[in-house]
Amino acid sequence: MNLNATSTIRELATEIPNATRTFEQLGIDYCCGGSKSLRDACAHAHVSVDDVLIALEQGSTFKQTAEAGRPDFSNGSLGALIEHIITTHHAYVKQELPRIQQLLNKVVSVHGKTHPELSSIQQAFQGMSAELTSHMMKEEHILFPHIVDLESAISTGRPKPRPAFGTVSNPVHMMELEHESAGAALKEIRVLTSNYSAPEEACFSYRTLFAALKEFEEDLHQHVHLENNILFPRAIAMEGGSEAGL
Ligand SMILES: [Fe+2]
Ligand SMILES: [Fe+2]
Repeated sequence: MNLNATSTIRELATEIPNATRTFEQLGIDYCCGGSKSLRDACAHAHVSVDDVLIALEQGSTFKQTAEAGRPDFSNGSLGALIEHIITTHHAYVKQELPRIQQLLNKVVSVHGKTHPELSSIQQAFQGMSAELTSHMMKEEHILFPHIVDLESAISTGRPKPRPAFGTVSNPVHMMELEHESAGAALKEIRVLTSNYSAPEEACFSYRTLFAALKEFEEDLHQHVHLENNILFPRAIAMEGGSEAGL
């Protein structure tokens, strides 16, 4: 593709190998901010467009990364993409939420008096945790099964299913708003943890907590990218009959 400052972050994130990794390193929001142009996203993240273009170019030729071996979700079946989201990202969130909660409880009880920001981190994380749990349940029980059913109806020539929620855009819109809310909570946590840098005197649990929060944010960015930038637009196109190959 032709790389330039007017390309949207969504186009770059879906078409250039390793672009999401580069965006993550440079602090560019590629999941909820996918509709922004590269120029606007760079201005927001205070990085130079030229530096990002060079990094994208270099990243795309670097094959020895996990991303290089990933299936091409912009073309494969939506069922396979959903399976990947559930088994990789939903499973990870379900495993990490209680672990991070426990770490937070421990670190707040020991260091909360000298580091009052830890209680704010705990509060922001608890709110996000409750929201994400119900969000993933809605995806797994309502939206994703509908998309799988829609794809199967189209491939077998059955009439398209008519869900109670009307068109697929309705739950998609709700999911996108919830992604923004989780993204905002994580941005708040990033600020409260000073970019996940634990203080000099921090104990092992403190450092483990900050490392876990950082990793959680990175995974959620990948997760939301797959949904906002690939799954949802493809499901909407498929419902409208314009998905390529259908
Ligand atoms: Fe999800
Ligand atoms: Fe989601």
